[in-house]
Amino acid sequence: MDTSILFEPIQIGKIELKNRIAMSPMNMGYTGPEGYASEQTNAWYATRARGGFGLIITECVVANPYPWRGSDSLNPLLLESQNKYRQLSQLADVIHSYKGTKVFMQLSPGWGRQGHPDLEHESIASGAPSAIPMEMDLRKFNKGWAKQVKRLGIDLIDELGGVEKIQSLSDEDYEGLKEIAFPYIQEHAPQFYHVVKGHTPRELTIAEIAKLEDFMVEQACAAYSLSYDGVELHTPHGYLLHQFLSPRSNQRSDIYGGSTENRARVVTNILERIRKKVGPDKVLGCRLSGDELMPDGLTHAEACKMVKLFTDAGANYFNISQGSYENPGAAFAPDGEDDFTRWAPGFKDASGGMPIITPSFIHPETAAAAISSGKTDIISLGRQSIADPYWPAKVKAGRSEDIMKCTRCQQCYMNLFESRWIRCSVNLTAGFEKYYPELWQNDGLMDARARKFMDKRADLPQI
Ligand SMILES: Cc1cc2nc3c(=O)[nH]c(=O)nc-3n(C[C@H](O)[C@H](O)[C@H](O)COP(=O)(O)O)c2cc1C
Repeated sequence: MDTSILFEPIQIGKIELKNRIAMSPMNMGYTGPEGYASEQTNAWYATRARGGFGLIITECVVANPYPWRGSDSLNPLLLESQNKYRQLSQLADVIHSYKGTKVFMQLSPGWGRQGHPDLEHESIASGAPSAIPMEMDLRKFNKGWAKQVKRLGIDLIDELGGVEKIQSLSDEDYEGLKEIAFPYIQEHAPQFYHVVKGHTPRELTIAEIAKLEDFMVEQACAAYSLSYDGVELHTPHGYLLHQFLSPRSNQRSDIYGGSTENRARVVTNILERIRKKVGPDKVLGCRLSGDELMPDGLTHAEACKMVKLFTDAGANYFNISQGSYENPGAAFAPDGEDDFTRWAPGFKDASGGMPIITPSFIHPETAAAAISSGKTDIISLGRQSIADPYWPAKVKAGRSEDIMKCTRCQQCYMNLFESRWIRCSVNLTAGFEKYYPELWQNDGLMDARARKFMDKRADLPQI
């Protein structure tokens, strides 16, 4: 199949992408001490820029100085103070040094009830819209997750008849399973337990929410001045902003709870204020779950209503996702590919035709078909970009057969959650980029002015 559509340029706001292949935002935990971008952070992204991605969306960067942000055990990049500006501007400059590559910063106020604060200090509860704890539905495990929990020492799934049997349990039978499974996970894999069953978060006050909005607006504006081509609000996957949107996690009775408009208010406020400050031309997007896929959660119909509200507030593109920690198979890590395109037409209509980014592809043909069908405008690769950073360049060179395919083994995710250095089972260089400069060597792609400087230096005699 002809995959040339992947290499057609596309406009988001005033920014032109050289192709329609984006790298999905992924928190790899390679951050250095105190939340600074590290050499490995830079080398990680430089390798993907070298591989030909037209757009790199950074991992979720946390703009919140308070301990209730509850995010630190995943070791994210922080943008809670001006101290972080230099390293983050260096990261944008490194990515830009690969000709034509654009970079958007994904920005978040924190993880809310999915915050794992017990690993930091049990007296600091995460802040959330309501004091409702998160609890994973173990029936939503898929094959990849089952494989990883087994690696952690949880043999229970096989003993109970396999992942398919668990997936089909009735509510009543599942209650029985929970009584065995939760204590078992807590005992055998305590490092993972916080992902399965959260602590009870603290309900944020209106004054704290106002502060949260202030920080997000301030740091989003900073991101543009640090040379990021766009800013994306981190609003999916059951994290803090999503918790405001969802009736499952937001049961407030003030101006931030109840109606769709009230639950969306924190995001619309942030978008409106950023747009007012930066003007109409800047790229400002939202990553949003097309459906939470949990009972009483955010439905696709309501997500579309929110897309309309967010467009009116100033968003000019949308990045799709789905689910939350409570539904892990759907949320982050489907076993197959192309599971998210189903939400794209709804977002496209609701936004009045704004560009849509859709993740979760492995094969170039499937990715090209998602665009040529008119459903999405840009495809993004998450786990596949870990498995093979050169996917775009290989496809363009007609060498798709050389692509190292992601096996959906979920090791990357599980390494993140068990607080380990992220590795990949098919790409043994992943996580070691800083030690292998040949992976990100800038060849002829280097900015022409830098190339001229290098060429002049090359024949200088050494004295
Ligand atoms: C290790 C890891 C970390 C992730 N971190 C983020 C994140 O910071 N922000 C986000 O919006 N999505 C995050 N995701 C989700 C991905 O962006 C993507 O939506 C998901 O992996 C499904 O796409 P894929 O099938 O192409 O991997 C992460 C995924 C992985 C594997």
